[in-house]
Amino acid sequence: MACALYCLALLLLTVILVAAEEDAKITLLKFEKVMEDDVDFESHVEMIKQDDGTAIINGEFKQHVSLDNDWKINITLYHAHKPDEEYKKSPERLHTGVCEFMSTFYKKFFYEKLKDYSNAPHPDTCPLPPEHYHLKDYPYETPKIKKMMRNGYYRMFGRLQKEDHVKIEYLVEFLVE
Ligand SMILES: *[C@@H]1O[C@H](CO)[C@@H](O)[C@H](O)[C@H]1NC(C)=O
Repeated sequence: MACALYCLALLLLTVILVAAEEDAKITLLKFEKVMEDDVDFESHVEMIKQDDGTAIINGEFKQHVSLDNDWKINITLYHAHKPDEEYKKSPERLHTGVCEFMSTFYKKFFYEKLKDYSNAPHPDTCPLPPEHYHLKDYPYETPKIKKMMRNGYYRMFGRLQKEDHVKIEYLVEFLVE
């Protein structure tokens, strides 16, 4: 699940934290792997941008280890008003155990939609056993919920960590306007 869980955690965070007003929107600009411990995981995620600003996400995730609350999902955000400005650390962040994440955010905001596009694990699964997960044509749509973040450009780094070791890191860039 590795990435599925936590790449989606990233998208989820764009939904929850970034969430736009009815007349504002979020555009995904980039979704890329920064690093990965390829002994424990192999992930390939591809974002296909559509002309209408939405995106489709495909992914393959091989997880060779079992994940529990000793594994943390750590999401950090940086913000800039313009893309060529210096990005500054934003107060919104998330640092939570994998199982805790599963039984809260994942269960509440993700699983219902995700299960139609993947073999995503049930939210009560803990620890998460080794598995090969697929995500196919998952549609990322701009959500219509209350705005909690300011306009501008964001870089979101999502890490899966065990103790101080970064096992996977992805970067998502998006624009809120
Ligand atoms: C979370 O990741 C950020 C960088 O993306 C790092 O600066 C921070 O120390 C990490 N937090 C923890 C608790 O490991």
